[in-house]
Amino acid sequence: MPPLREQVIVVPGASSGIGEAIARRLAREGARLILTARRVDRLQALAQSLDPSGNTVLAIAADITSEEDQERLVQSALQRFKHIDALVNNAGYGQRGPLEILPVTSLRQNFEVNVFSLIALTQRVLPHFRKQGHGRIINISSVAGKIARPLTSVYDSTKHALEALSDGLRGELLPFGIDVVVIRPGYIATEFAEAAQRASEPVLDQPGPYTPYLAAYERGYQRSHHFARPPDVIAKLVQRALTARRPRTHYAGPLHAWLFLFLRWLLPARVFDRFVRLKK
Ligand SMILES: NC(=O)c1ccc[n+]([C@@H]2O[C@H](COP(=O)([O-])OP(=O)(O)OC[C@H]3O[C@@H](n4cnc5c(N)ncnc54)[C@H](OP(=O)(O)O)[C@@H]3O)[C@@H](O)[C@H]2O)c1
Repeated sequence: MPPLREQVIVVPGASSGIGEAIARRLAREGARLILTARRVDRLQALAQSLDPSGNTVLAIAADITSEEDQERLVQSALQRFKHIDALVNNAGYGQRGPLEILPVTSLRQNFEVNVFSLIALTQRVLPHFRKQGHGRIINISSVAGKIARPLTSVYDSTKHALEALSDGLRGELLPFGIDVVVIRPGYIATEFAEAAQRASEPVLDQPGPYTPYLAAYERGYQRSHHFARPPDVIAKLVQRALTARRPRTHYAGPLHAWLFLFLRWLLPARVFDRFVRLKK
């Protein structure tokens, strides 16, 4: 891979949180960036603050699930910068709710954003990576890519799917000089919780047998906020994955993410289940 200041990097989901932190860090290192998300005002303000000249940071409003937008994104990047070196698949959101009452449409939408749109974007950049003989796909998974919990099993499944895809793809792309890296964030202070709340509201508002468990889950989630670390912790890992001559296949952070992953690996499922079990 060329040094960061020569790289052209596509960052979906850059209007807030981890994606924004990635954009800030990579721009500081001199990378040329294509930032995308739906909230165009936030995206443009970020691009303007990172590069007032408008020469090195391109902001493109796009819904990552739209095929038309995916194509426009990749073509705009190629038109402006002539090549792409890396794709940081970061856009995503969570939702919670018991599987029994989650509408299938909202479940599908979560997979659409967190899995299928990432596959589609990857498919669109791969021919260019193959032709130039290098490229890096950085997939932002989660600790939830390895650990599934009650009431968030759909989001957790999207991240499990991303992990499996990444592992398979890594071998598939090895002969072409293209690498696939997975990043597993733990609790990070972003707008993730608000977005999850918005996505889950229609389900959470229905009173029913799960209501006391959902309320307890919510209280537990609020308490866990003190674990949350700033998004630059993850941006640093992305920088490492983009600059290492031979990157690790998986990175995790902050420290508590390692701890959760270790416990999940160490403990029998029934024992681990006790840590994440439903409470009233
Ligand atoms: N925060 C955490 O604790 C945590 C932990 C593990 C993994 N992660 C993962 O980290 C990634 C970033 O999340 P975050 O924590 O930074 O949350 P966030 O602040 O809510 O950011 C999510 C980003 O994804 C974009 N996005 C969502 N749906 C989109 C769509 N349909 N089209 C285009 N962009 C879309 C959002 O942009 P618009 O709304 O403007 O479109 C936003 O920029 C996600 O994949 C998440 O699963 C987060």
